[in-house]
Amino acid sequence: MRISDTVAARLKELGAELRQGVSLAEQTSLGIGGTTDEILLRRSDTIPEIMRLLTSEKIPHRFLGGGTNVLVDDGELSFVVLHLPTSAPGMRVEGNSAYVDASADLGGMVTFCAKHDLGGMEGLIGVPGSVGGALRMNAGAYGTQIGPHVREVELYRAASGGIETLRGSEIRFDYRHTSFAPDDVMLRVKLELPSKPFKEILAGIKVCNEKRRGSQPLNQKSAGCIFKNPSGGSAGRMIDELGLKGHRVGDAMVSDRHANFFVNKGNANCADMLKLIDDVRERVRTAYGIELENEVIVWRN
Ligand code: EPU
Repeated sequence: MRISDTVAARLKELGAELRQGVSLAEQTSLGIGGTTDEILLRRSDTIPEIMRLLTSEKIPHRFLGGGTNVLVDDGELSFVVLHLPTSAPGMRVEGNSAYVDASADLGGMVTFCAKHDLGGMEGLIGVPGSVGGALRMNAGAYGTQIGPHVREVELYRAASGGIETLRGSEIRFDYRHTSFAPDDVMLRVKLELPSKPFKEILAGIKVCNEKRRGSQPLNQKSAGCIFKNPSGGSAGRMIDELGLKGHRVGDAMVSDRHANFFVNKGNANCADMLKLIDDVRERVRTAYGIELENEVIVWRN
């Protein structure tokens, strides 16, 4: 979708940067996605005005975080993409509190806090993506989730059309799901973390890194786990037991390392990946009577 010159001029006045004809294949970890215009939100105070502008001009829009948990449609996209600048995100520590911009890299935040002797997030170290994306999905690994550490989130709230600060207790953090609305834009978070010596945190980080390296296809294009685990079960184990590792549709393939990771072996497109997801879901339904739910977020045209 392309933004008209009139809207582009207004966006410029509001301090946003317009990037035309951006390929989302280059902005997502799966390396899949079509082309559209992208609006870089350089000022958070003008976000409400920008949202009103997009609504009044009937411009469909989606917010892209780190691009590590999203499968984007092919071709010319029917929506524009909003993005926060990722250079030099704000991070500071005060006592046991960490104040971090949503555009910060999640792993970068974990190490920054570790250097200030704040731990509790060691399990999140290898989870790719932004802090904002981790908040929205309640990212977790190796027994750690971000949700329980959240004390405040500053965000653009779609329901009120303004910037608000929510207390942690006002947000529901479930397994890979939160009470944030799809159009809410995370801006900043305040976390409360337990004190721990840097060396101890590093040792924990090392253990998680090793476990991850041993079981996940880290150097391949993926969006992490494709399906949520069904309650009490493991999607990866079931797919593996069905002998589906290596199963492919075009260049979309079930990883031969972890069966709940689907990788792009080269030139996979969204249609290939969706077909593979549907095939695997169907095979699991037939064999186990379980309907797997997507963990990856799919942006269809
Ligand atoms: N397993 C297999 N074959 C496989 C994959 C896994 O038999 O191909 C077995 C493992 O041996 C283990 C069990 O299934 O007994 C669980 O596997 P694993 O420990 O790898 O964890 P998971 O449940 O598959 C979850 C998260 C991951 C997170 C890991 C580590 C979900 C959907 N996945 O995976 O998160 O990194 O635990 O804590 O909750 C993600 O969210 O994208 C993600 C990758």
